[in-house]
Amino acid sequence: MSAAENKKRHSILAEEIRRHDHAYYVLAEPSISDPDYDRLYRELLDLEEAHPELLTADSPSQRVGGKPVSEFPSHRHAQPMMSLDNTYSFDELAAFLKRAEKRLPEAELDWTIEPKIDGLAVSLRYENGVLVVGATRGDGASGDDITGNLKTIRSLPLRLAGGTSSTSSHSSRKNKTKNTDEVELVPPVPALLEVRGEVFMSRAGFAKLNEKRKAEGEEPFANPRNAAAGSLKMLDPKMVAERPLGIILYGLGEVKGEVPPTQKEVVDWLKQLGLPTAGKIWTGQSHADLVAAINELDIARHDLDYETDGAVIKLNNLNLREQCGATSKAPRWAIAYKYAAEQAETVLKAITIQVGRTGALTPVAELEPVLIAGSTVARATLHNEEEIQRKDIRIGDTVVIEKAGEIIPAVVEVVLKKRPKKSKAFVLKKECPECKSKAAKDEADVVWRCPNPDCPAQVRGRLEHFCARGAMDVEGGGEVLVRQLGVHGLADNVGELYKLALAEVAGLERMAEKSAQNFLDGLEASKQRDLWRLIFGLGILHVGAGVAKALCRRFANLDELMDASEEELVAIDDVGEVIAKSVHFWFGDSRNRALIEVLRKAGLNFESSIVQTAAAAGPLAGKSFVLTGALPNLKRHEAAARIEAAGGKVVGSVSKKTDYVVAGEAAGSKLAKAEKMSVPVIDEAELLRMCGK
Ligand code: IVH
Repeated sequence: MSAAENKKRHSILAEEIRRHDHAYYVLAEPSISDPDYDRLYRELLDLEEAHPELLTADSPSQRVGGKPVSEFPSHRHAQPMMSLDNTYSFDELAAFLKRAEKRLPEAELDWTIEPKIDGLAVSLRYENGVLVVGATRGDGASGDDITGNLKTIRSLPLRLAGGTSSTSSHSSRKNKTKNTDEVELVPPVPALLEVRGEVFMSRAGFAKLNEKRKAEGEEPFANPRNAAAGSLKMLDPKMVAERPLGIILYGLGEVKGEVPPTQKEVVDWLKQLGLPTAGKIWTGQSHADLVAAINELDIARHDLDYETDGAVIKLNNLNLREQCGATSKAPRWAIAYKYAAEQAETVLKAITIQVGRTGALTPVAELEPVLIAGSTVARATLHNEEEIQRKDIRIGDTVVIEKAGEIIPAVVEVVLKKRPKKSKAFVLKKECPECKSKAAKDEADVVWRCPNPDCPAQVRGRLEHFCARGAMDVEGGGEVLVRQLGVHGLADNVGELYKLALAEVAGLERMAEKSAQNFLDGLEASKQRDLWRLIFGLGILHVGAGVAKALCRRFANLDELMDASEEELVAIDDVGEVIAKSVHFWFGDSRNRALIEVLRKAGLNFESSIVQTAAAAGPLAGKSFVLTGALPNLKRHEAAARIEAAGGKVVGSVSKKTDYVVAGEAAGSKLAKAEKMSVPVIDEAELLRMCGK
């Protein structure tokens, strides 16, 4: 064949394969048998091998053509990728509508209601119809360029339907569809199209992938979202190609060319361009319309192939959106209505007891695995014996469990109708399941504890807690390593961590020299941590991060704290009698004193950098905050640090004294409580404003 003929054949093959891919992966209507498809694909590959000059970036062979990378380059979004404000209540939705109406008093407002896909936001750039860049959201201004990984998503076209704009006329063209004489209108392809959407892992694909991982001895993913996130982070597109990822596009970034005037038409347009979009979107005007659509979607979403955690309500008219504007993080023309926690029924097979670092014996429900809120749940906390008795939870019972997003699943109630005849009330065995010590309980307490400080479970728990992110933040000091250290008798208190030699750590199972060195480097770095982290890391009963900081506001160094009397301790704000006793008792124990000396010798920082005296200054002086849910940008400890730096205080639970609740995604009961008690609820952006950022 001549060069021209080869080129023609290549373009015919590529076009045909694209059409079959779209039919199969987007429309779910296969248009060719597998062997026939394979033959076309083989021919394309052979042709490209013989004539490499034919290979184009949008050839179907390029889905897995990307080379592994050592890290992702950064990509600046032409237009920022914003996030959404959330609400869980229809009243707040009404308030949102009112605000929009106030901003746009002249207009009759139309809204769209579409699924909020629980995946990862990405932005795609098509130049003259060809996919050139795909990137993660990152911080909204720039993200990671993961083009190679995104190209592996089979439902994502590498080239928009209708060909490149250079070959298409600027009026609508007529195109023949596959097997009928039906004529379909294909819009002209814009010179530049930035589209936004969400990458997800299908429910079915997730279940299969986890089965495979379990069979291969790998840790299963907790939910489809994590699985999708983990997949997109992989550096080798060939491995990403094996992950069952999908994508739904729902919005625009920068566009050169004409854009339809409404959201509804934008979505139709994207669909015509061959991009996967949500199956159904609703429109409505009144609050009642929106509520009806949101409720319909709540039913329909269970049949979708992807996880959804809410409904996104958007102003339909794009011009009006501009007039409505945006805050620094989220538009004022859209809001996410999040659905409440999901519940499921399952059977309680057994109750096991976990031993925590303080010796607390925590009963855990071992459940018949059940899929709920996107992940398989096989265990749920039962908190303590009293809680079990209160709910009269018995082995063999059918129970209702509840889970919202990433939150730990809990048993809500027993389905009494389904209780087996011979069931017996549960009695907690008053013995440590690990070291067999007799359990003990303080009168005032509801928790039974293992009193043996040398209990291996407690030792492991203390080491893990010490290394944890919120405490000394020692890289690599997780559960697996700590267990190994215990098994091999290398460390039974945190002082011994600082005596470990590289060869000892590297000699542990599944420990490469590099990760062993990382861990030791992490320990070295931890020597300079703030004193409050060390105090918290020691794992003194009732001393959380907040109390540790309160202690540091009163005492300049560890020696002063060690010698403090109970009276001195009780006098501190935020320190009650129980805490004071516990701190005094801990430092009175000669073994703990010896441990402190080991840490001193190892060179740990014992001086506090927190300013003494509690006279807080700053814009948030005297205000108390509760943090709940995942904030879009700040980690919880970062948000707490900002609040404290501005003179505010972070407390654990909502009360009448709370000034603000800062709510992020998947906020749960604390948010509900705040609403009930009329405590103002703010988001991250508002918090940063208040901090003066
Ligand atoms: S629109 C400026 N529509 O939810 C508005 N977002 O919580 C940008 N999401 O960052 C988003 N489904 O990752 C929009 N149908 C949908 C969505 C959706 C899921 C995600 C998106 C966004 C996050 C905000």
